[in-house]
Amino acid sequence: MSKFLALSALAAVVSAGCLPEPSSHGVTFPPIPAHGCPAKALACTNPTRDNSTSLDGCCVPNQGLYVYSQNWTMGYCQNPNNTCAETTLRALPKNQFTLHGLWADYCDGSYETSPLGCDPARRDDNAKATVDKLAPKSLRQEMEKVWLAADGDYNWFWSHEWNKHGTCVSTLNPKCFTKPSPSQDLLAFFRASLNLRPRFNLYKIFAAHGVVPSTTHAYNFTDFQAALKAETGFEGAFQCTNNANGTAFLSEVWTYLIARPGLKFDGHAPVKPFSSCKISKPIYYLPQKH
Ligand SMILES: *[C@@H]1O[C@H](CO)[C@@H](O)[C@H](O)[C@H]1NC(C)=O
Ligand SMILES: *[C@@H]1O[C@H](CO)[C@@H](O)[C@H](O)[C@H]1NC(C)=O
Ligand SMILES: *[C@@H]1O[C@H](CO)[C@@H](O)[C@H](O)[C@H]1NC(C)=O
Ligand SMILES: *[C@@H]1O[C@H](CO)[C@@H](O)[C@H](O)[C@H]1NC(C)=O
Ligand SMILES: *[C@@H]1O[C@H](CO)[C@@H](O)[C@H](O)[C@H]1NC(C)=O
Repeated sequence: MSKFLALSALAAVVSAGCLPEPSSHGVTFPPIPAHGCPAKALACTNPTRDNSTSLDGCCVPNQGLYVYSQNWTMGYCQNPNNTCAETTLRALPKNQFTLHGLWADYCDGSYETSPLGCDPARRDDNAKATVDKLAPKSLRQEMEKVWLAADGDYNWFWSHEWNKHGTCVSTLNPKCFTKPSPSQDLLAFFRASLNLRPRFNLYKIFAAHGVVPSTTHAYNFTDFQAALKAETGFEGAFQCTNNANGTAFLSEVWTYLIARPGLKFDGHAPVKPFSSCKISKPIYYLPQKH
């Protein structure tokens, strides 16, 4: 994270010129903001337009509101309809949420629903092979550790996240890179998604307010929301699954961001908060088994 910040600061300093792009772990990232992009540019600032500012799409994304989604797999797997591999349950990083995705929304909270995403020409249905072949080792290892697919099908999951969401990040369009290299848009998207994790370490955020996994104690919606707001300054959205018996389990948490140049983000209040967890119903936050 500190490396990311340092590089981002460097990118901001050199953004007006044409210096070589900084690279992080061998992935060219972030792309140099478009020529003339103000270093302090912020998406979604022009109130008359929902699709962000009038800034170039290489400067800040033209779908500038982001949803950062993280899973609590123990909850997800309580719904018998969800496929959960024992190998995944065993591989869960201890006391950490896993990454689901980083999703580009329009500034009004609406989004594209097509699994084809925003640029079908840049689809990659073999994202795992791409990562195995082209990603720096550190990126590949981190993805394998924290970007788990519940059913074990990493290729499907990573391809889906890239195709449906990553291709919607206008700042990653190959034309925004001054020195193109194969799949650097995909690799930069995955890197940027991972880089947000320490900032939204949900396990720590909840634990700081006494909200820790338990098989016997159920929490209220407000317990999670209050902890998140106290630690980040913003509310989020909380997703629950139900088991066959109708008991609710925390499965996913969404935090919201506004894009700045160079795939940097500021926290933001949700525009259209959508929580499937019920405010009035107890929510179980289950401990990991392994
Ligand atoms: C935002 O962009 C989408 C897709 O290009 C378009 O359908 C929609 O009308 C735009 N919204 C506004 C308020 O301009
Ligand atoms: C995270 O959630 C998504 C969607 O619900 C799912 O496809 C993915 O497999 C989940 N991963 C884990 C480890 O729970
Ligand atoms: C949840 O909220 C109800 C009603 O406000 C309260 O009685 C209960 O003690 C709360 N439970 C927890 C675990 O905080
Ligand atoms: C599982 O799926 C079936 C069929 O869609 C649905 O009727 C049932 O409610 C689901 N079970 C749970 C626990 O959500
Ligand atoms: C249904 O949920 C309640 C509350 O968590 C629990 O006490 C009970 O054992 C559950 N029953 C079954 C059949 O899972």
